[in-house]
Amino acid sequence: MRKVCVIGAASTKYGRFDLTARELLSDACSAALKDSRVDPKRIDGNFIGNAFSIAEKQGHLGPLVMTTLGIPEAPAYTIETACASGGSAFREAYVNIAGGFADVMLASGVERVSQLDTITATSYFAYGSDYTYEGGNGCSFPGLYAAMARTYFQKFGATEEDLAAIAVKNHENGALNPKAHIQKRITVEDVMKSMMVASPLKLYDACPFSDGAAAVVLATEEVAKQLGVEPVYVMGSARAGSIAALHERADMASIPSTTIAGEKAMKQAKVTPKDVNLLEVHDCFTIAEAMALEDLGFLKRGEGAKAAAQGITRRDGRIPTNASGGLKAKGHPVGATGIGQIVELREQLLGKAGARQVKNARVALAHNVGATGGSCAVHVLGV
Ligand SMILES: CC(C)(COP(=O)(O)OP(=O)(O)OC[C@H]1O[C@@H](n2cnc3c(N)ncnc32)[C@H](O)[C@@H]1OP(=O)(O)O)[C@@H](O)C(=O)NCCC(=O)NCCS
Repeated sequence: MRKVCVIGAASTKYGRFDLTARELLSDACSAALKDSRVDPKRIDGNFIGNAFSIAEKQGHLGPLVMTTLGIPEAPAYTIETACASGGSAFREAYVNIAGGFADVMLASGVERVSQLDTITATSYFAYGSDYTYEGGNGCSFPGLYAAMARTYFQKFGATEEDLAAIAVKNHENGALNPKAHIQKRITVEDVMKSMMVASPLKLYDACPFSDGAAAVVLATEEVAKQLGVEPVYVMGSARAGSIAALHERADMASIPSTTIAGEKAMKQAKVTPKDVNLLEVHDCFTIAEAMALEDLGFLKRGEGAKAAAQGITRRDGRIPTNASGGLKAKGHPVGATGIGQIVELREQLLGKAGARQVKNARVALAHNVGATGGSCAVHVLGV
């Protein structure tokens, strides 16, 4: 396998916009190409994470974006693995270059859902569950993650205040991120008093519905050297799945695909959790961050929920987690989320993350989950 590196990256701000998915994605791809200094004519293709463009009455985003970029001949592919679409798109671009089928690829992602009201957006998102048993019976994603939180509470004695501390930390980080959807500090009290969404999860335990796009350029080490850009290496890359329906799993307080993809990616990268300096994990709800830290092997079972309150996962803690603000505060434009994590980690590894810079960042891990874990992508990056 060939060595693969990220040579350019960009993201739009996350939030609510009047721009279409096509426009947001074109902006991000164009900025990533500029950042990489590569001639767009050298792009061998674009894997695009996207789940809901059909809600804008526009499928098949690829050729539209490639046309805007001036390279309509280059093939583009929409990748849909629910909320893991971005991480999966990155994986496919990586595999193509590592396997010798391409030298320079775009991996990108986009979502625009702010034109939908909350109930419609919630319904669209629920199509990513096992709709026959879950979404179709009223169990939307807040409900499913609430069931996971209740199971976790029962097993480990964690509390709503423990989860609130995760939200407080991620909002604190998001307040330092000019690209974040929600740039507002909050307190544990704010979380506890906020609107109940699906008990025990409240407004501030949930990620918002966000619009946004992100893109990265991947290339061989040789191309990076030719261009004279500082490479960030993809040290490990893995995808895994879990049983789709939550009620069919043996344990609702963990996500098997996270463990499998995490072990594979770290094995390929020849690292253990002790070697990883920072993580971006899929905190679509606060409970998801707690589970991810355990499933990835960074903390023991039952320790994840308390880690934020104990300072372990703060930017200056032992396991800096979601320095970007995470899905919770940076936002969750579904198809873009996994690519946005790579954009953040590249900035961190190159020491360009400004006020939210994590010190001594040399090895970083990105964890992107689809639905309740039916899909998962984990990547290890390093300089
Ligand atoms: C939590 C949720 C129900 C709130 O939706 P809502 O009630 O329609 O909220 P609104 O869009 O009306 O926003 C009301 C206010 O709360 C803020 N807000 C909305 N969602 C927020 C969130 N998750 N966290 C913090 N603030 C949020 C808005 O910015 C707005 O603030 P403002 O009044 O100062 O402008 C919705 O964000 C949600 O369902 N999130 C989860 C999405 C999801 O399931 N993703 C998939 C994960 S697998």
